[in-house]
Amino acid sequence: MEYCKGRITKLLVDYFGDDFRRITHALEVLKHSEKIMEGTEGWDYEVLVASALLHDIGIKRSEELLGYNNGKTQEEYGPPVAEELLKSTGFSTEKISRVCEIIGNHHSPSRYDYVELSILKEADGIVNRLEGG
Ligand SMILES: [Fe+2]
Repeated sequence: MEYCKGRITKLLVDYFGDDFRRITHALEVLKHSEKIMEGTEGWDYEVLVASALLHDIGIKRSEELLGYNNGKTQEEYGPPVAEELLKSTGFSTEKISRVCEIIGNHHSPSRYDYVELSILKEADGIVNRLEGG
């Protein structure tokens, strides 16, 4: 897909609105994912970008519905939102479900042998440490 990074960044920004902290976090995770990607192979760039940018997308709905969020609720609420957003981009059904599986597994022991999942976990860990979280 052309301009994949720009398209998904717009979805992220539109969805999170003025939540600049979360927008910045997602962009940082993408930056580190792209660095890690250079030393690995077998990834799909669109899946990697969408997973990095949308990995915490469930936070907003979790906070609206429950008043809080944690790793488990992010995994629960993230995939349906990501699916909805990605449908508007022309992402293939196969890639959407892969991104949703990754988002639904990024805070727990990996159930999938996807290189994009391990890249996301590594990048998120780096960014969380840099943010002091
Ligand atoms: Fe994160």
